[in-house]
Amino acid sequence: METKLIKINLTNKNKVLSIASDLIKKGEVVAFPTETVYGLGANALDENAVKKIFIAKGRPNDNPLIVHISDIKQLNELVEFVPKEAEILIKKYWPGPLTIVMKKSKRVPSCITGGLNTVAIRMPNNTIALGLIKKAGVPIAAPSANSSTKPSPTLANHVLNDLNGKIPLIIDGGKCKVGLESTVLGLSNGKAVLYRPGKITKEELEKIIGEVELPSGQIKVPSSPGMKYKHYSPKAEVILIEAKIDANESKDNFLGNVKKIGLNEDSNLIGVISFTKKIGFKNEFFFNNDVNLYAKNLFFALREFDKRGVEKIIVEGILDEGFGLAVMNRLRKAASKII
Ligand code: TXA
Ligand code: MG
Repeated sequence: METKLIKINLTNKNKVLSIASDLIKKGEVVAFPTETVYGLGANALDENAVKKIFIAKGRPNDNPLIVHISDIKQLNELVEFVPKEAEILIKKYWPGPLTIVMKKSKRVPSCITGGLNTVAIRMPNNTIALGLIKKAGVPIAAPSANSSTKPSPTLANHVLNDLNGKIPLIIDGGKCKVGLESTVLGLSNGKAVLYRPGKITKEELEKIIGEVELPSGQIKVPSSPGMKYKHYSPKAEVILIEAKIDANESKDNFLGNVKKIGLNEDSNLIGVISFTKKIGFKNEFFFNNDVNLYAKNLFFALREFDKRGVEKIIVEGILDEGFGLAVMNRLRKAASKII
């Protein structure tokens, strides 16, 4: 299959969205930008179309998908009921990077939910994504548009690298603003569970709806299947150096550990991601104490190092607070060694 990549702009927007929505209506898959990462979308109510997503990504069938909507009216068809907490959060955060898990209605095919009786739903804050859902006239199921196990795509070219020849169309809408996937919050069983941290933080959510639990790591059958798979892995080995509570100590900890490993700063085979201080390696991304910058460029950096043939990536961890919790969640999954 030939994969077309079309750059979207103000002049061709309507035409491109028509081509893309026709594909969705015909039961095909299309990659499109959202504010978080690129998604690989199909008609959520068409089981055959949804199956094509799993095949293109090489994704295990029991890992459920997020259903994307453009209009709040679509929500009632997809869930049994909307809990009060969800209503409040939806008013504040949709469209935006918050996915809410609720009891599913009968209309949602079980291939989307991996057999669970719940469904994850979000309204993305991106005019291309919203325009596509609206024009297609159906809710769109979409995981991140990477090959399973790879870092999520934040550029159309990342999608092309992973899925060239496997999907008919990629809409290129430039770089994603947030850079990490949405917060996934479970509200299906009377309590709030943070299945995946993201831009909308645990602290922020707790101010509005009270206690938000972290999922227990002990359960054998994960209640959010996405948590059990290998994830976000570049080809290079990722070594994560955890932050220390004290910022100064943290900086020394990172530098000290890099020195201890005995790395050569001129080597083409070593990549460094630094946060508190630039340490002067040839292959270095420095995020200048800015969590948003870190989140926006993390997946880009991992993929860029692969492109340059880097074999080892040393990463400076940050504290597990605010948006930092999401950055660390992705880093710990990408890492093969944590120091
Ligand atoms: O930002 C995003 O959320 C992106 C863009 C494209 O919207 N999408 C995305 O989808 O990251 P995906 O499939 O890569 O991640 C969906 C996550 C997985 O961790 C999955 O296990 C969880 O949401 N999830 C989906 N349905 C669920 C459910 N019913 N219960 C618990 N977790 C669920
Ligand atoms: Mg994903």
